Amino acid sequence: MGEALRGLKRTIMCGELRETHVGNKYTVMGWVQRRRNLGGLEFVDLRDRSGVLQVVFGEEIDKEAFEKANTVRSEYCIAVTGTLVKREAANKDLPTGMVELKGESIKILSESETPPIYIKENLDAAENIRLKYRYLDLRRPDMQRIFMIRHRAAKVVRDFLDENGFLEMETPILGKSTPEGARDYLVPSRNFPGKFYALPQSPQLFKQLLMVSGYDRYFQIAKCFRDEDLRANRQPEFTQIDMELSFVEEDDVMELNERLVQKVFKEIAGVDVKLPIERMPYKVAMEKYGSDKPDLRFGMEINDISETVKDIDFKVFQDALANGGSVRAIKVQNCAAMGRKQIDKLVDFVKTYGAKGLVWVAYKEDGIKSSIAKFMSEEQTKAVLDKIQAETGDLVLIVADKNSVVFQSLGALRLHMAKETGILQNNNEYRFVWVTEFPLFSYNEEEQRFQAEHHPFTAPMDDDIQYLESDPGKVRAKAYDIVLNGEELGGGSIRIHDIKLQEKMLKVLGFTEERAWDSFGFLLEAFKFGAPPHGGLAYGLDRMIMFLAGTENIKDVIAFPKNQNAFCPLTEAPNVVDEMQLKELGVNINN
Ligand code: AMO
Repeated sequence: MGEALRGLKRTIMCGELRETHVGNKYTVMGWVQRRRNLGGLEFVDLRDRSGVLQVVFGEEIDKEAFEKANTVRSEYCIAVTGTLVKREAANKDLPTGMVELKGESIKILSESETPPIYIKENLDAAENIRLKYRYLDLRRPDMQRIFMIRHRAAKVVRDFLDENGFLEMETPILGKSTPEGARDYLVPSRNFPGKFYALPQSPQLFKQLLMVSGYDRYFQIAKCFRDEDLRANRQPEFTQIDMELSFVEEDDVMELNERLVQKVFKEIAGVDVKLPIERMPYKVAMEKYGSDKPDLRFGMEINDISETVKDIDFKVFQDALANGGSVRAIKVQNCAAMGRKQIDKLVDFVKTYGAKGLVWVAYKEDGIKSSIAKFMSEEQTKAVLDKIQAETGDLVLIVADKNSVVFQSLGALRLHMAKETGILQNNNEYRFVWVTEFPLFSYNEEEQRFQAEHHPFTAPMDDDIQYLESDPGKVRAKAYDIVLNGEELGGGSIRIHDIKLQEKMLKVLGFTEERAWDSFGFLLEAFKFGAPPHGGLAYGLDRMIMFLAGTENIKDVIAFPKNQNAFCPLTEAPNVVDEMQLKELGVNINN
């Protein structure tokens, strides 16, 4: 049975002890990392959140403590009191490696079974086991380091926003399901059988209402819920640093956020972010990088070669151009010698992005090879190589299709080739960019209608309002995303604060007046009472921590994440509930 503390107090954390502490008596508490017997002495590496300390027990130091120390095993939770001494053989790998504690008394606070996972750095265990025993996984020093970073980052953000006039406010978790976002998580209601709350996908509408209420500058570190397909950087339950400001335009929000990002990255990761952060219109990002979240750490930009190839009698090129599409290319350095099998893999790769094929031209030392040599004369091939300034050793990869397919497939291929060729290896740059001038709408081919690119409350650019009804595809939004190394870190916009414009926007999105008021009536109503111009932004806090902690898996930065199926292996949520609970909620399950 575990012993009680009975008034025993911890006096210092294990990782804090240094040579300056030698000669003093301390009580430390923590977990046994390992125990070993050497020359009649028991050595225990004791671990707490701050680090590891060597404790030594011996018959000469204290017989009773020595005998008890003999019984401890890995992950026992113990308290030790003793005197700190200088170590005979220093351990340079440990911050506490110059000293050790002479164990004069020991309490076994809790025994431990053999843990199902090793408590060590860089653990290579199956994810579901790690998540099932997450409380043990979280004992690992590399995990604890991440959560200390997360804590400090959130604190820097809070302090910065506080200094800049923001008020931290909470918004409801039980809300209303509104259309136009991702899929909602729904919560049935006992008081209103057949009716449901929805968990918030973001505090978007409430933060806008707070602006109407005159709170001027709001922020919240907010839990958000989205029932969407999961990826390496997506969880169903995630956290935003969410903010909204009154009486502002795009530049005001962006300028403030640049300072925020600069401060967080400097204080937490020692990274200098140069201001102002580069801005790039959406159109340029798509044309050069095939993505609205371009990775600017390397070139390999996309080139439009439509003009150069327009006379080549190759059906794929001709069809693409005739249908309003284009022919574009990237050049990959030092890849001209790539084998056929590898190139075939690239062809399959672009096909997953909707491309019908991939044309290649290899500029080899002993001549130029091409997959469509039959259709292109030597001169025509040379013209293509000249157009994109290819040099010996370059492999040119070409896609012809409608623009959306060309951008998507070449954008993805660009990232793929960067990985394949290792150009980003040892790259420790942090390349921020604001992507601006997003289209207000995108066209949903399946549903044959326009949908909001950001959300339905984003304001159109003043110059484009005139096209709102006549040519929605042409309207640009007052929206901005902050992108880091090819990942969307955050996004926001200036909002519509005028009821008439908001109603018009909803109409373009296909809402009847009745449905608009049914869904968003509370916001429209609020706009009747002196809504200030306002705008804001939200970061994915988890994504920010991924960068600050240097991990590519979002689950590493969330203490209790869900697995890829949105399941929690630890608690086994979601799970069945009592028949009685369902009855009370008026819910019938049809399986
Ligand atoms: P948006 O939907 O772009 O904007 O979300 C803002 C940021 O939240 C992060 N994010 C996610 N992180 C982890 N898992 C997810 N499933 C997930 N989904 C989004 C991203 C993203 O940039 N209300 C608006 C913001 C605004 O306009 O002020 C919003 O939610 O980093």
